[in-house]
Amino acid sequence: MRQPVVMGNWKLNGSKSMVTDLINGLNAELEGVTGVDVAIAPPALYIDLAERLIKEGGNKLILGAQNTDINNSGAFTGDMSPEMLKDFGATHIIIGHSERREYHNESDEFIAKKFAFLKENGLKPVFCIGESEAQNEAGETEAVCARQIDAVINACGIDALNGAIIAYEPIWAIGTGKAATADDAQRIHASIRAHIAAKSAAVAEQVIIQYGGSVKPENAESYFAKPDIDGALVGGASLDAKSFAAIAKAAAAAKS
Ligand code: 13P
Repeated sequence: MRQPVVMGNWKLNGSKSMVTDLINGLNAELEGVTGVDVAIAPPALYIDLAERLIKEGGNKLILGAQNTDINNSGAFTGDMSPEMLKDFGATHIIIGHSERREYHNESDEFIAKKFAFLKENGLKPVFCIGESEAQNEAGETEAVCARQIDAVINACGIDALNGAIIAYEPIWAIGTGKAATADDAQRIHASIRAHIAAKSAAVAEQVIIQYGGSVKPENAESYFAKPDIDGALVGGASLDAKSFAAIAKAAAAAKS
């Protein structure tokens, strides 16, 4: 049985007071909630503050981050390493997000390097994949996801997906309110799992596949009712403690 993972990707949002209120709110909302791993990825500058607040709240939240470099130290201006992330207790690191692919020209090959370096450093990649609207309309969704996953499998081997998280995020559903239907998401998740199973059934069976793209408290349950949807990567709704906690609770209830 895969324990669901619900993760909040805060993107470029936050301030000291917002981070404090949000994490304190989540600490309260998640009291007594079991059966789900709940993670947050604040902007890097707030990871220190987040670590302290999570500890104060009794470690109900897993700390993550939104990016990593592929070096641990040296002359790499502006970057942030796995060792530094580990220093602050961050474990779940988002890579391959469509916003980084688009705005920072990150290629499949570069993302595969990040994946490998996170694994080498004992961190958990939260590896985002997903198709554009045009690719979706052209019926290329499964092929795009397979290509993105193959970049990692080719570089790191199938076993590298052990303990990793894949987040299927159709780009057209991100921040648009136009979420994929639960049936469509399930179909793609099943195809992703089958693609991995063709290389290793054992790896496919354990890999967490999250859905991301306009997940809200109102639609969360419909996703988690599906057998191949093991959690969610949440943007907008993760910035509100009650909404994000409601999504996490829906996952815990559906998968218990
Ligand atoms: P929204 O939940 O705001 O659509 O964002 C999804 C996302 O990109 C999470 O990484």
